[in-house]
Amino acid sequence: MRIVLGVGGGIAAYKVASLLRLFTEAGHDVTVIPTEAATRFVGVATWEALSGHPVSNSVFDDVHTVNHVRLGHEAELIVVAPATADLLSRAATGQANDLLSNTLLMAGDCPVLMAPAMHSEMWQHPATQANVETLRSRGVTVLEPASGRLTGSDSGPGRLPEPEAIFEAALALAGAPSVPNSPDITAPDAAPSPPAAGRPLAGLTVTISAGGTREPLDPVRFLGNRSSGKQGVALAAAARDAGARVRLLAGHMDVPPPAGVDVIRVETALELRKAALHAAADSDVIIMAAAVADFRPADVAGTKIKKRDDVADPVITLVRNPDILRELVEVRDAASRTQLVVGFAAETGDADGDVLDYAAAKLRRKACDLLVVNHVGQDKVFGEDTNSVVILSRTGSEPQEASGSKSDVAAAVIDRISAELSRVVPPA
Ligand code: C5P
Repeated sequence: MRIVLGVGGGIAAYKVASLLRLFTEAGHDVTVIPTEAATRFVGVATWEALSGHPVSNSVFDDVHTVNHVRLGHEAELIVVAPATADLLSRAATGQANDLLSNTLLMAGDCPVLMAPAMHSEMWQHPATQANVETLRSRGVTVLEPASGRLTGSDSGPGRLPEPEAIFEAALALAGAPSVPNSPDITAPDAAPSPPAAGRPLAGLTVTISAGGTREPLDPVRFLGNRSSGKQGVALAAAARDAGARVRLLAGHMDVPPPAGVDVIRVETALELRKAALHAAADSDVIIMAAAVADFRPADVAGTKIKKRDDVADPVITLVRNPDILRELVEVRDAASRTQLVVGFAAETGDADGDVLDYAAAKLRRKACDLLVVNHVGQDKVFGEDTNSVVILSRTGSEPQEASGSKSDVAAAVIDRISAELSRVVPPA
């Protein structure tokens, strides 16, 4: 595959040398385009030696070949790492002031992945976040930066994801296997093959909600829940590894989202509802793994609610949140869409019935296709690294058990989804 590797002017440029090695060792043909600032961190000679191609950052070199047009047209994948705040901004506003920005504008339908790295303040700045939103809305995959130690004494979100994670995410985006010299790489003219074993969701879009919603009471307080987001994040990684384009609707989570998925942050149930209904329009699969608050405070105070000795303590009135899962099924049916909707249920048994009795009733009520049921107790499931679930199907097929790490459970759920889909649309 012909890859353009754009390198931004950040200290993490040195890690991109390893990324380049991963690409070339997997048999890909990589042209490196550093920005002017990037060459202050890693010199042109390094990129030329590692890629085996001449390297330039100017549109005025090799003018006779109209370099930016050729590179943009020929690329089958463009990866930008580190994507600095400046590069994200220039890409979002369509600037064309060096070879890399020109090439990005010439990319057409070519998949583009950007791996940001910068200080947390720069990443979290509304200007950067708006640029990221713009790029994502245009179909560019912008990875979430990793969290940890940054260049100075600071730490937080802003680290370049590890080269291996960028490599995997990039090849998943391009629909290429990560093993070297496989038929997909060496025979670009071959007829499209059915989804390879291990990539059963290739070509599909999967939307996954994860984490817990937070329902504000006043500017500093909220009603939340103990969801860590670990199971939803494991599902997103498993769906990505199965070849899907993954959109993660992320509520409050204790873990970072996986590399290679599009992340849409939400806070409240109403925000999640809006994002989920919007995402549903082009999703083949929706997995509602988020812990959505069933109720929200009826009134949100504009200023912090104060303790006062001269008035009675406040009483919080709650109103019910919409059932997003149920609504997604209704919208799907009304639009006659072919879409698999998967719900999660955290249940406890009681004197009137066991966990599975309650879960079966919930499956009927929600009318989703699959319901992944886990048994919750004082120390079970929330925040843990392991899980034990039963997958119930609306078709009435045998309940399926899965347990182990949350990644094991995610893999079992994704396998089951793939099996359900192949029943609806058998592979070509
Ligand atoms: O009704 P219960 O909260 O037990 O249902 C759990 C399932 O429904 C989960 O898939 C959760 O994401 C979803 N849900 C929802 N909207 C709500 C409450 C839960 O979509 N308001």
